[in-house]
Amino acid sequence: MPVRLILGTETSCDETAAAVVEDGRVLRSNVVASQFHLHQPYGGVVPEVASRHHLEVILQVIDTALAEGGAAWGDLAGVAVTAGPGLAGALLVGVNTAKALAWAHGLPLLAVNHLEAHLYANWIEVAGRAYREPELPALGLIVSGGHTDLVLMRGHGSYQRLGRTRDDAAGEAFDKVGRLLGLGFPGGPAIERAARGAAGAPRLRLPRAWLKGSDDFSFSGLKTAVLHVVRGEGGPPPPAPEVAAAFQASVVDVLSRKAAAAAAREGVRSLLLSGGVAANGPLREALVARSPVPVFAPPPVLCTDNGAMIAACAHYRFDGLRAGTDLDPNPAMRFAI
Ligand code: KG4
Ligand code: ZN
Repeated sequence: MPVRLILGTETSCDETAAAVVEDGRVLRSNVVASQFHLHQPYGGVVPEVASRHHLEVILQVIDTALAEGGAAWGDLAGVAVTAGPGLAGALLVGVNTAKALAWAHGLPLLAVNHLEAHLYANWIEVAGRAYREPELPALGLIVSGGHTDLVLMRGHGSYQRLGRTRDDAAGEAFDKVGRLLGLGFPGGPAIERAARGAAGAPRLRLPRAWLKGSDDFSFSGLKTAVLHVVRGEGGPPPPAPEVAAAFQASVVDVLSRKAAAAAAREGVRSLLLSGGVAANGPLREALVARSPVPVFAPPPVLCTDNGAMIAACAHYRFDGLRAGTDLDPNPAMRFAI
C-alpha cells in the first residue's frame, strides 16, 4: 500500500514548527524553531513578537522539514495546520501560509485542533523504542501552558471532556512559580532542574487541591501558597530548589492520582499523557506507578509544541478535518466539550 505523507505546521504559540509524517506514525522530519529566547526577558510570551517571528521563519522551517523528510510537494497527501486554540496573530501566520501553499500545490488543507493533536503525539513511532499503538478507549491527560484537560477518547475524533482546570493551567503554574523563584522562563524545565538539586528529604509540604467528586483541577491556591513561602510569611524562606521540589511534588501528586482514578473508573485501555508538562520526568514516573493501564508519553521533543503531532492527527482524522481556502484561525477553538 502506498504511504501517506502529510506536512504538519504549527504556530499557535511560541514555536514555529513543521514536520513530515508518514502514515501518522513514522517521523520523516521534525523542525522546531523555538522563540523562547525572544520572550525570556519578558517572563512570558509576547503575542506581537511571536506573530512577527513566525512570519520571518515559517517558510524556511517548512522548506527544511520537506528537505530533511526527503519529500517534494508532489509526494504529499495534504497540508495540516493548527487552526486553534492559540494566539490569534500567531495562528493567522500559520493558517494563511498553509492555505497559500496547499492551494498553490493543489493539496488538501487540513484544519487541526491543537489540543487534539497533542494526544496524537502518542501515535508517533520513537527511534529505539518498540512501537505500541495506544488502545482505545483511552484517557488523555493534556497538560500544557494553556490547558489542563482530562479527556475520554472513545475513538478517533470521539471525545468527552471529564475535567479541566478551574483556574491556572498546570504549565502556567510552573511558569508563574518559576518566575517567583527567579528561575527564568519557561518555568517547567527550570523547576524540574532546580528540584533535582533539593537536598535530602522534603521538609516543605505545599497544599493539594483535590476537588473531590470532580475531575477538575485547580492550581491557583498552590501558586499563592508558594508566594507566601517566598515572601517568608511563615518563617525564613527555604532555598529555591526546596520550594521548586515541593511545588512540583504537589502538581505531580494531584495530576497523577486524579488521572489514575479516572482511568480506573472509566475502564479505559490506555492513558495518554501529552502537552508540554508531559515532558516532566517525575510526572511521567508517578503516572506509570499509579495507572491501572499502560501509560503512553511522547519523548519530550514531541510533548512541547511541534508539527509532527499536527500531521499525525491529520492522518487519523483526514476526512473529518478537510478545510477550504476560506479557513480562518479560531483562537478559542473548542475541543471535547
Ligand atoms: O504544549 P506546550 O509546548 O505549549 C502550549 O500549548 O501551551 O506547553 C508549554 C508548557 C510551559 O508552561 C512549560 O513550562 C511546560 O509546558 N513545560 C514543562 C516542562 N517542559 C515544558 N513543565 C514541567 N516540566 C517540564 N519538564
Ligand atoms: Zn501545546
